[in-house]
Amino acid sequence: MGESVRSLRVGLAGLGTVGQSLVRLLRENQVEIERNAGMRIEIVRVVSRTPKPEVDIGDATFSTDINSLLSEDVDVVVELIGGTETAWDIAKGVLATHKPFVTANKAMLAEYGNDIFDGHTQVGFEAAVAGGIPIISGLRTGVSGNKIDWIAGIINGTSNYIITSMEEEGKLFEEALEDAQRLGYAEADPSFDIDGIDAGQKLAILAAIAFGIPISMAGIHMEGISEIEVEDLQYARELGFRIKHLGVAKQTANGTQLSVHPALVSETELLAQVEGVTNAVLIGANAVGSLMFVGPGAGGSPTASSVISDLVEVARGTMINAQFGHVSQKYISIEETESCFYLNIPAVDRAGVFAEVAEILSREGISIESVIQKSQATRKNNGETWVPIVILTNLVLEETMESAQNELQKSASVVGPIRRIRVSQFNS
Ligand code: HSE
Repeated sequence: MGESVRSLRVGLAGLGTVGQSLVRLLRENQVEIERNAGMRIEIVRVVSRTPKPEVDIGDATFSTDINSLLSEDVDVVVELIGGTETAWDIAKGVLATHKPFVTANKAMLAEYGNDIFDGHTQVGFEAAVAGGIPIISGLRTGVSGNKIDWIAGIINGTSNYIITSMEEEGKLFEEALEDAQRLGYAEADPSFDIDGIDAGQKLAILAAIAFGIPISMAGIHMEGISEIEVEDLQYARELGFRIKHLGVAKQTANGTQLSVHPALVSETELLAQVEGVTNAVLIGANAVGSLMFVGPGAGGSPTASSVISDLVEVARGTMINAQFGHVSQKYISIEETESCFYLNIPAVDRAGVFAEVAEILSREGISIESVIQKSQATRKNNGETWVPIVILTNLVLEETMESAQNELQKSASVVGPIRRIRVSQFNS
């Protein structure tokens, strides 16, 4: 852009929840945005799959043709349509023109990020991870003087919203998911949220920035929240924990660990207090120590707020080209990691059964840290009386835990599927 440009002219793809919020916020906060950007930011072209006459796009020209974004009068393209393939077509078109490109699309970045960042175009993606939290600029700039050792984050607002609603309001899983969809938090395909895929995509982006590695989903172990029962949330609380859905990235001597899964988090940790659609990213870095970023992880205005921060950087001329590593990584599998575990074992209510469970665990060298077994939790099934035995183990290799669980599951005293959840610690 030359000296004479007095406004940044935006071509916007997508008029969904975030696109509509972007249009509104650029108008409502025009004075503040102009002050921060040093120039006016205005939308001149809008592209959407279908016309949306109910949305006031001001003087912008509307089209259903993505090629209109490549017009001369557009300085920067913002992609908010979601999905992967059309978004990637838009990205390729913009990158070929070397105009700046802003996207909130973590699915596209996780799939094509290495190609996108191979070029010399400025690419902003603050809105792709953790909604309104400025975690991308926090990592790229705020902690740029550090070696990052690990990241642990609540990075899917929908999952955290569902878990909190089940725990605090006793809502059913499906009911809480419907609420999250109605409030505009959930992905078009909510299985991306509840199966951990969305969090995995975000973790791939965070790890790439933090560790300077290629963006890749290949080494990520992904689990979602659909197996968690209200009773697990209650037992975890009794043991002094909350259950959260976490994305964990860690550099170890043996390789990079990337995993997304539910975890018990001690109630003394700040992460345990993060509720509802709120996201939080905890970073362990060698100069600053540990640092936590917290804020709304989804929703129209928070996500549009992040998009605007990218546009402000473009307007100021401070948007940097992302530099990710190209060296392929050695990833360590989840079986090679160590954790303490929460086990919920449905077992026959008979003398000696607990001893049998303890004996199987002890054969694998697993010691027990805490136990809950309540007589009022007794249930009947096919005439058999059983109780959940809830155990917290000491630190054990996941592979060993898996083998012990298989042994337990074979026991005639265990009457149903055992549920197992990792316990996360953030001090190493
Ligand atoms: N579905 C995502 C979430 C939206 O719930 O976190 C923000 O990426």
